[in-house]
Amino acid sequence: MLPYKIVHCPDLFASDQGESERNLIQCFEPPADTPDSGKFIVVLEEIDVLLGSNRADTLEARMASLLLDCIDSTSAFVLGTTSLPATLSEEIQRPGRLDTLVELHLKDAAARAAVLKIMLRRFGNIADSQKDIAQVAKKAYGFSPADLQNLCVRAFMEHRDVTVDDLLKITETIVPSSLSSFQSKIPRVMFSDIFGMDEVIARVRTLVLEPLCEPERFYEMKVEPPRGALVYGPPGTGKSMLCCAIANELAVNTIWVDASQVRSMIVGETERALADLFAQARKSSPCILLFDHIDALAPQRGTSLSSENTSDRIVTSLLVEMDGFGSHGMTDHLAPSVFVLAVTSRPHIVDPALLRPGRLDIHVGLDLPTAAQRMSILEGLLGKMPAAASISGNGDSLRKLVERTHGCTGADLANVCREAALCALRRDINSEMLTMADFEQSMNALNI
Ligand SMILES: Nc1ncnc2c1ncn2[C@@H]1O[C@H](COP(=O)(O)OP(=O)(O)O)[C@@H](O)[C@H]1O
Ligand SMILES: [Mg+2]
Repeated sequence: MLPYKIVHCPDLFASDQGESERNLIQCFEPPADTPDSGKFIVVLEEIDVLLGSNRADTLEARMASLLLDCIDSTSAFVLGTTSLPATLSEEIQRPGRLDTLVELHLKDAAARAAVLKIMLRRFGNIADSQKDIAQVAKKAYGFSPADLQNLCVRAFMEHRDVTVDDLLKITETIVPSSLSSFQSKIPRVMFSDIFGMDEVIARVRTLVLEPLCEPERFYEMKVEPPRGALVYGPPGTGKSMLCCAIANELAVNTIWVDASQVRSMIVGETERALADLFAQARKSSPCILLFDHIDALAPQRGTSLSSENTSDRIVTSLLVEMDGFGSHGMTDHLAPSVFVLAVTSRPHIVDPALLRPGRLDIHVGLDLPTAAQRMSILEGLLGKMPAAASISGNGDSLRKLVERTHGCTGADLANVCREAALCALRRDINSEMLTMADFEQSMNALNI
């Protein structure tokens, strides 16, 4: 066995002038028991902190170039660890430096089951049955070994005799750590929070949920299950809400991307950001990749005015990723995969190639609510406001509200209710009742 050194890179930084550099150089000095061959191993944990910045003339930049020098001149075998492989520069990954990238993740349910089996053995005598373990592993989409450990520890802290049901229940409450930065943003809405859209929800159930939950049935019929859906409609009609509900109802990993944010990344970086997103989604599959405001990311090609055709290149790489020929190769047909859910209020400017079969082939259109739908939405919203009981129980008042809100979206109606509550509070901070006058005042204020 070779002697080794483990260095925690963030600890290398010191406040004294030159001290950080000295610390780094010391890492590469051979340990005392190094054999004559001069071979030893240096493990640099969280190596990204040494390579994160490319600003000239800072301590970080000096450390980065010193690290490259050290790696080039050492006889040691250098192993870096990071949770942010995307931030590593190409310089460090050049042949002769850290040229091999080993990704550690549990690929599928079978891999998770194998890890769980070992963990459960250490924790006690539960779930000897392979079937039970497989059931938990299947539910634990995207879990890393640490997440699985977390699951086991919690189960054994909360229950004396842990059963499979306990494990399944706790699995639901754990957010896989690889996803947490994105996932925290998804609001907890369910189909039952969406009012007046029963028909659309029924369509979504058959068109989106079934293929996602039971892809096997499609493969049995020798057809590919759909890979994506486009949800379109005027602003405020509840598109984002519907998509969040789809994600929540399915309880699969969801990465929510506001396309207008990705778009604003530095030119050239967007493509890499896209590739990273798809890679992350594949890693956590089955996974929904939710692109809100897709029109900002994928406008029709050939219409961009910029000289570099940035938009066109982004659309092309989006198509490549969706077709599965991305950097990670074709996805295994039977492996659960990534479902792209795209949202736009301007479907006519989205590149048509994206809407072709095999890509976003399901189209779900939302429209301004009809009078009957406005009635259901108002009833639903008012039902959640205890102070509005007198209005929501009164058919005449409701009909008046419905009439006056012709042309309003669900978001407008939600606004009217919110504003009415504020009016009531302004009238009397202790008021416990919303009156029709509050609603009149609210609609006047909102120009409805
Ligand atoms: N059908 C509906 N039922 C209940 N609330 C709705 C409905 N439609 C819209 N809303 C309200 O409007 C808000 C904005 O909707 P959102 O999904 O962001 O619209 P869009 O994405 O289409 O612009 C939601 O957060 C919700 O409060
Ligand atoms: Mg929206």
